[in-house]
Amino acid sequence: MPAVLGVETSCDESAAAVYDTQRGLLSHALYSQVDEHARYGGVVPELAARDHVRKLPGLIRQVLEQADLRPAQLDAVAYTAGPGLVGALLVGASTGRALAYAAGIPALAVHHMEGHLLAPLLEPDAPEPPFVALLVSGGHTQLVAVRGLGRYELLGQSLDDAAGEAFDKTAKLLGLGYPGGPALAALAETGSPDTFRLSRPMTNRPGLDFSFSGLKTQVLTTWEQSDQSERSKADLAHAFQEAVADTLRIKCARALDQTGFDRLVVAGGVGANRRLRHVLDHMTKQRGARCYYPGFEFCTDNAAMIALVGALRLTQADRDELAVDVRARWDLTTLKPVAA
Ligand code: KG4
Ligand code: ZN
Repeated sequence: MPAVLGVETSCDESAAAVYDTQRGLLSHALYSQVDEHARYGGVVPELAARDHVRKLPGLIRQVLEQADLRPAQLDAVAYTAGPGLVGALLVGASTGRALAYAAGIPALAVHHMEGHLLAPLLEPDAPEPPFVALLVSGGHTQLVAVRGLGRYELLGQSLDDAAGEAFDKTAKLLGLGYPGGPALAALAETGSPDTFRLSRPMTNRPGLDFSFSGLKTQVLTTWEQSDQSERSKADLAHAFQEAVADTLRIKCARALDQTGFDRLVVAGGVGANRRLRHVLDHMTKQRGARCYYPGFEFCTDNAAMIALVGALRLTQADRDELAVDVRARWDLTTLKPVAA
């Protein structure tokens, strides 16, 4: 029963977790740098890397203690090797590799998006492949056909802003600070559905690609033409959230049609959005399909999903060389398939 330590440092969250293939998630801990970057209005890569150096060792110590394991009792260390900020990735990669080397166990380079993709498997009622996965994070919006571990086919993706990025940029434009996705979602709940209507980009032509950057321009012009009251701001937040959720719903339904699959998995930070969950639950139910999500805390960046992928790939003895190798960009569909 392999126990794997997972380490995540791809962006502005330092995280560590221990996953055991039989007992499940034994411990997880996370430190978010969000307050540090908020004053700059975005993530400052160099500051992120330095903060990971400060916080990661303490988090690793903490999760090992909670899992009641010494490094030598682990079976592997899994770390996020990309995609992400290179300086930030290097901290987790070199820490993970050093720890694995000292303990005489393998180190596994994990794809961050495969972590998001498989995060719903941390839940008790986990979906079996094949399924369609909607990955909606700050950096990615992708529809993926998942036929097994490492067997991923890209069905469509955003041609410009990712859904999370669109939430964050629109929030900034409405003066909701950074990162504004959750704040915009909260404001949207208080808005009226009847005041504004924004377009559903790229839904009136075939295909599974997305484009969200035009929506923020629509928000800006609508805002400038409005009375700019707090009420209008909430109504506009509502209209924006509806447009994103509805666009994602239309494309997800199309992806289910195209593949013939009856399971939809939603992962990534925007998967925490309650309105999106409601809309997708309704759509899947109506067609006799089912929608699966990670727990709220495992939608955004975390190390539990990295430890999980490490454990799944370790059982297939998928081991890497000793070199520390990280990638800012990394195509999910080039990952090695794992035999069922
Ligand atoms: O997956 P994630 O933690 O980071 C990346 O790997 O990119 O996703 C972060 C993104 C941010 O853009 C954030 O604003 C968005 O997810 N987000 C939300 C919500 N919670 C997080 N967007 C809309 N509604 C939410 N409730
Ligand atoms: Zn992420």
